[in-house]
Amino acid sequence: MNRRDFLTSSVAGFALMPTLSAAETNESPSARRIYRMNRDWLFGGRKTADATAVNFDDSSFSKVTLPHSNVMLPWHSFDDRAYEHVSVYRRHFKVPKSAQGKRIFVDFEGAMTASTVAINGHKFEEFRGGYTPFSFDLTPHLNWTGDNVIAVELDSSERPDIPPFGGNIDYLTFGGIYREVSLRVVPNNHIENLFAEPQNVMSANRKVLVRCYLAGDGDGTVTVELRDGQRLVAKGSAQVSGKTALHEVTLSNLGDITLWSLTTPKLYDVVVKYGSDEHQTRIGFREARFTPKGFMLNGEHIKLRGLNRHQTFPYVGGAMPARAQWRDAYILKHDLKLNLVRTSHYPQSRHFLDACDQLGLLVLEEIPGWQHIGENAWQDLAVRNVGDMIRRDWNHPSIILWGVRINESQDNHNFYTRTNALARELDPSRQTGGIRYLYNSELLEDVFTMNDFDFPLQPPNHPLYLNTEFVGHKYSTKRFDQVERVAEHTLRHARIHDQLASNDGYSGGIGWCAFDYNTHGNFGSGDRICYHGVMDIFRLPKAAAGFYKSQCEPSEEIVLEPAFNWSSGDHSGAGGPGHVPICSNVEHIKLYIDGKLHTETEPDTKTFAHLKYAPAFIDLSDLPLDPWGDLKLEGYIGGKLVITKQYSGKGIDAQLLVEPDDERLRGDGSDVTRVLLRVADEYGNTQQFASGAVALTLEGPGELIGENPFGLVGGAGAVWIKTKAEAGTIRLTAKHQYLPPKKIEIEVSSAPAEAV
Ligand code: GAL
Repeated sequence: MNRRDFLTSSVAGFALMPTLSAAETNESPSARRIYRMNRDWLFGGRKTADATAVNFDDSSFSKVTLPHSNVMLPWHSFDDRAYEHVSVYRRHFKVPKSAQGKRIFVDFEGAMTASTVAINGHKFEEFRGGYTPFSFDLTPHLNWTGDNVIAVELDSSERPDIPPFGGNIDYLTFGGIYREVSLRVVPNNHIENLFAEPQNVMSANRKVLVRCYLAGDGDGTVTVELRDGQRLVAKGSAQVSGKTALHEVTLSNLGDITLWSLTTPKLYDVVVKYGSDEHQTRIGFREARFTPKGFMLNGEHIKLRGLNRHQTFPYVGGAMPARAQWRDAYILKHDLKLNLVRTSHYPQSRHFLDACDQLGLLVLEEIPGWQHIGENAWQDLAVRNVGDMIRRDWNHPSIILWGVRINESQDNHNFYTRTNALARELDPSRQTGGIRYLYNSELLEDVFTMNDFDFPLQPPNHPLYLNTEFVGHKYSTKRFDQVERVAEHTLRHARIHDQLASNDGYSGGIGWCAFDYNTHGNFGSGDRICYHGVMDIFRLPKAAAGFYKSQCEPSEEIVLEPAFNWSSGDHSGAGGPGHVPICSNVEHIKLYIDGKLHTETEPDTKTFAHLKYAPAFIDLSDLPLDPWGDLKLEGYIGGKLVITKQYSGKGIDAQLLVEPDDERLRGDGSDVTRVLLRVADEYGNTQQFASGAVALTLEGPGELIGENPFGLVGGAGAVWIKTKAEAGTIRLTAKHQYLPPKKIEIEVSSAPAEAV
């Protein structure tokens, strides 16, 4: 498959990548300041005694930038015990002048898995959990004029007292402070959190109920504004007196509001002022309901077509910054044309969720866990995870369902009564689900969310029903497997979606899974990978990706994706693989060999009666050996030629391709872009039998994340380029023994220094 054709637009949407918020610059009149604290961490590797002490000698530690993985790993076949240990991080800083007299918190967005944080030698209680944020009030422990040091002892082992651990899990968690850290400076009376809930969205009388969670002990006024960019849409206020923590303000008379939808993911800002503090959040107006007739978004029936996503990447696990998170969301929305993603099996990066909001991709988010339920204290942590997940993410319009059960666990009436009650109390606006594999399990949630790996699927046994996993381990497939396998893998996804489309009682389905992922030795293919994705671990498409892509309207994109690889010899002639699918949204396909029309085919709407765009088939066993040569596929709609694809018949590795996702990065020390390495035919299609090593030389303000030389697998693979904290030009040269070398350049712009 030609990856360039597949990835239609490499930059659209990335203009939306996050910029600094007002609280992170000096432009805000508010007393609140967010100081990013991602650079200049000192990493000491494995824990040493006294490493949290103020005077500990950290001069031998290495300087690292967050997000950080506690070890760099090969992309497969490694020992996961390599990251399962306690490591130490230290960060020195001075309190900024503007912070004098204020409250100072440190906010960790995610560290895997149990963090003991100390400020100037004072240890806080261990935070247990690798997927949700945590904060500590540093104020009483600070040295206001001299050096301060935050030290973290981070236990990245699989501690059985912390979800998801205690049993076996089919994925790796990796280790490190793998999300961002910041200092939050606020006045004593401040806003802790905001939950802005659009109500009556489908009527002219729509409102926003803004719940302001306040801290401090003062009286005053809380004012709330709804903004569309610079335009004030509505304003309201409430008097605050005494210590009440929650104050509600309802905004009404909103005038014209653009609803948030999959095609117009319109966002509004809610800005709240309380005394000298100001805080804001983004919301979207949409009504999202699971009903007996399927899922409705703003009253419109939408058949959910999704895939599960693990948050891990090759080499570094979860430690990837905003741009990589955005890229994944972009791939799911625009390359795979999904309308839903499940963050299996835990809350994922806020950047990923922001991207889903801005790109118009629905999300099912769930608490950490996999099959195992621990004792009471473990369950208490899982209940806390429900609260932490919802309080972090309740403003994201993309999130349509909270998963409040441990994935594929047994029934546990008391435990799941608690998780559901908490979810409903915190967020009455969303339905709950909880992913199960027992068809007859107890339903305490609103939506019966079921992993049904069978075909045909079981009928919906509850009015609100969503299939949350299928295919996966039942048909593990590598990108470069032989044609019989990749074709069948594609068809298994297609058959399930065909059945889901046959009955409104199925709200839709979320296949297992989007991307291949690292796992333990007792799962997957034995090399620490589950090859269950419709894309590989580098996010390169397998044939099954073409099925998902082909389900979009031709007005969005015309798709023609054969589930075979001509340039790699999937054309064995008589006795060959027989009928194989071409996934497409065209009406008619012509197939030429060496310029001569060989056959014509149309979507198989008999076999796939319910899919809007059924795959077409051609018989690969019925190909002439004379003439032999290049394959050309033409797609027609309304008798008009709308797409042409070409594949070489020469069987020659024609070129080395080096394809960065981005040509401009930020010099902030953590920004990254993926660089695909592929050996291709003369048309750019991956030569799946190409082998050899690609030797990489990098010059300029960046470093490589990945293996060098990179040993091609199935003719392709990827590394990432990460910036240093400086501007300049990164030049990457790639050499393959037999092919002309390639050079790419990436411009790195300067990023503001961190102020603390
Ligand atoms: C499911 C499980 C997933 C994954 C999948 C593989 O049972 O929920 O996490 O292991 O199987 O197909």
